[in-house]
Amino acid sequence: MSSFSSLFLILILTVALLPIALAEPGETIQALLKRLDSKRPSPSVQEAAAKAVLKRLLPGYVSSFEFKIVSKDVCGGKSCFLISNYSPLSKNGTEIVVKGTTAIEIASGLYWYLKYWCGAHVSWDKTGGIQIASISKPGSLPLLEDEGVTIQRPIPWNYYQNVVTSSYSYVWWDWKRWEKEIDWMALHGVNLPLAFTGQEAIWQKVFMDFNISKEDLNGFFGGPAFLAWARMGNLHGWGGPLSQNWLDQQLGLQKQILSRMLELGMTPVLPSFSGNIPATLKNIFPSANITRLGNWASVDADPRWCCTYLLDPSDPLFVEIGEAFIRRQVEEYGDVTDIYNCDTFNENTPPTNDPAYISSLGASVYKAMSKGDKDAVWLMQGWLFYADSVFWKPPQMKALLHSVPFGKMIVLDLFADVKPIWKYSSQFYDTPYVWCMLHNFGGNLEMYGNLDVISSGPVNARITKNSTMVGVGMCMEGIEHNPVVYELMSEMAFRSEKVQVLDWLKSYSHRRYGKAVHEVEAAWEILYHTIYNCTDGIQDHNTDFIVKFPDLDPSNTSSALPQAHLWYSTHKVINALRLFLNAGNNLAGSITYRYDLVDLTRQVLSKLANQVYSDAVTAFQQKNAKALNLHTQKFIQLIKDVDVLLASDDNFLLGTWLQSANMLAKNHHELRQYEWNARTQVTMWFDNTETKQSNLFDYANKFWSGLLEGYYLPRASTYFQYLIKSLQENESFKLEEWRREWISFSNKWQAGMEPYPVKAKGDALAISKALYKEYFGKKNRKI
Ligand SMILES: *[C@@H]1O[C@H](CO)[C@@H](O)[C@H](O)[C@H]1NC(C)=O
Ligand SMILES: *[C@@H]1O[C@H](CO)[C@@H](O)[C@H](O)[C@H]1NC(C)=O
Ligand SMILES: *[C@@H]1O[C@H](CO)[C@@H](O)[C@H](O)[C@H]1NC(C)=O
Ligand SMILES: *[C@@H]1O[C@H](CO)[C@@H](O)[C@H](O)[C@H]1NC(C)=O
Ligand SMILES: *[C@@H]1O[C@H](CO)[C@@H](O)[C@H](O)[C@H]1NC(C)=O
Ligand SMILES: *[C@@H]1O[C@H](CO)[C@@H](O)[C@H](O)[C@H]1NC(C)=O
Repeated sequence: MSSFSSLFLILILTVALLPIALAEPGETIQALLKRLDSKRPSPSVQEAAAKAVLKRLLPGYVSSFEFKIVSKDVCGGKSCFLISNYSPLSKNGTEIVVKGTTAIEIASGLYWYLKYWCGAHVSWDKTGGIQIASISKPGSLPLLEDEGVTIQRPIPWNYYQNVVTSSYSYVWWDWKRWEKEIDWMALHGVNLPLAFTGQEAIWQKVFMDFNISKEDLNGFFGGPAFLAWARMGNLHGWGGPLSQNWLDQQLGLQKQILSRMLELGMTPVLPSFSGNIPATLKNIFPSANITRLGNWASVDADPRWCCTYLLDPSDPLFVEIGEAFIRRQVEEYGDVTDIYNCDTFNENTPPTNDPAYISSLGASVYKAMSKGDKDAVWLMQGWLFYADSVFWKPPQMKALLHSVPFGKMIVLDLFADVKPIWKYSSQFYDTPYVWCMLHNFGGNLEMYGNLDVISSGPVNARITKNSTMVGVGMCMEGIEHNPVVYELMSEMAFRSEKVQVLDWLKSYSHRRYGKAVHEVEAAWEILYHTIYNCTDGIQDHNTDFIVKFPDLDPSNTSSALPQAHLWYSTHKVINALRLFLNAGNNLAGSITYRYDLVDLTRQVLSKLANQVYSDAVTAFQQKNAKALNLHTQKFIQLIKDVDVLLASDDNFLLGTWLQSANMLAKNHHELRQYEWNARTQVTMWFDNTETKQSNLFDYANKFWSGLLEGYYLPRASTYFQYLIKSLQENESFKLEEWRREWISFSNKWQAGMEPYPVKAKGDALAISKALYKEYFGKKNRKI
């Protein structure tokens, strides 16, 4: 950049900064909070909504609790909950009173009481999510001391979801599953969730008002399992088209979701227009400023799905469509929020880095929102500042962040658990931000996390001088894994001080299994220092070779062997597994224990498999056919064994994923389409040719029984057959041939309809014990 433009820049920034210097930062956020409070339903509606959560969770305890909405004045203007004994001791069964500033605070207070007085636990797990074995009978619930407890939120918001969670986790959910999820959110204090379901139905109406036909939209929306990326303009048409059944059903679902969120006092975050448009808009508005975006992760740029169209925010049509979209949502849903998500510049760099230009783009995005809803606030994922830090230097960041009036933008520091941007951007140059944990990619199943960062990161950020932090958040790409990480993270919404993790884990394991068992406590201490102390910040940890199979020619020794991500001592973790197994006699009846046992055994065996894979490839390179055979057999056996292990728990089944997709289908055509979508997302993900797989293959891999035996196993077997043959016949490894066979096998499997079990079978404890003995017992104690 020339010195002239830098000077120019300083001038603009000075002007842009002025309103911030004048406005008290807290003021507008306070005003926003007040406005959102005024949108909430009456106390009686919220009290009833909280009661309904209790009734679904613990039907026998409904009359044990009294719930009451109180004003924020009770807690000096902050959100809070208060738990106390009912007094005088009642005749009608009321034992405990929970008061809260909204139904979410009441639900959070209820859960706090259930956790810390009754030793209960609620997690995401598909079946065994709730541990209530230890709760006393109604009528003899534990009493609190003295006045009871009051817990305040140190920061107003607890944000939840990533824009892709809707595809990796929620895509096939019915209302029943959603209801459970919203209960989970309420119990865990989430008050700012994304509400992205059903938006295609709104887009359909909006684009039709702009004279785009239904048929034109067929190539625009993605299939059900790929909606997130079509919404972001990464791809279009892939997995589609969407049927009218789908659009209508999802819109109905969204209305149920929103109305439940509202009853509970949540502020849903709705989508807004980012400039992503169907190709035919160009024909209808020939003078519109439309750019075709580049190739996103595609193999051969197939025009059917590659390269979407972006309407430039500076074009007046941008504001028209943006405004129409917001208005349509208000028409359909009512005045349910002021907060809208927009990520125009994610993985999509503006054409010039001129700050004045960037500032005008930001202003247009905001104008489109605020014309639709005059009180609109723009919630933006801060991912771009991490993912494209070459483009987004301080002047560009400031230009975007300051392009809207102060308090009208909230940034998500999306990856603050690993790369906190607030630290080196003067807290997003004074923009209110949410400290988020991203943690998971692609919904991969791996035990992983950094408990120390979770227990202290949000506290340190908040107590930083002049902090602009306004919330904590959980932005995982997929859910239903690592319950310990999400339990601790969601507590941070109510923690003013750092959590002493070791003590917390002790009580966590007690709550999770319903008993204090010395061996598991010791095991958790090991896990804290190993699996859950992932400090290397490696972003993409799906490097387990069973599920993320290396596509490589091992005879080409110039290219290094792939390295599995390993951040802990496997020896120590095997020891933790041994302790877990030793607790088995005590805990065999606990489903949460069984879930953790299966998960930990899988973790241990998958790391062993990585080692075995490397041994096999090394044997090949050393032309040692005997060793190659041995390691190959061991790798194959490990896949089979892990499949049997996972089959013993309902949470780890391919069958349930496919079944939930099938249940949404209304006819045979949809059945095939949804099944294909479900299978494709977790395998090849995107398009391929005969000889070139998708660049995203295995991105959303899953350790699921059925997927191991039915997909990963044949793939690995074929690969090793090629290796063995190559040694036997003293010829080079046929990488291309193998790849061709794998791709053709994959495409067939993706189009398959064969059913997979939807119910667990086998005794997890017995299976895990046998596997431990087999792989780490005395005779094998080399590891
Ligand atoms: C029990 O008594 C309390 C206090 O009078 C009241 O608020 C509550 O509604 C009563 N519950 C039932 C089930 O009658
Ligand atoms: C759509 O088409 C109708 C009829 O041709 C026309 O009157 C209307 O102006 C068009 N709307 C837009 C937004 O172009
Ligand atoms: C159209 O958009 C491009 C890219 O954003 C911009 O550089 C150009 O100035 C715009 N053209 C017009 C005519 O507005
Ligand atoms: C905090 O804000 C005050 C008042 O605006 C300012 O004087 C001070 O330098 C700021 N401190 C830091 C560490 O940014
Ligand atoms: C995690 O690892 C880091 C770096 O090796 C170390 O300094 C820290 O003490 C470890 N924390 C725990 C809880 O073991
Ligand atoms: C294998 O092939 C290489 C080169 O192609 C040759 O040098 C070697 O002698 C062959 N080994 C055997 C056992 O045939």
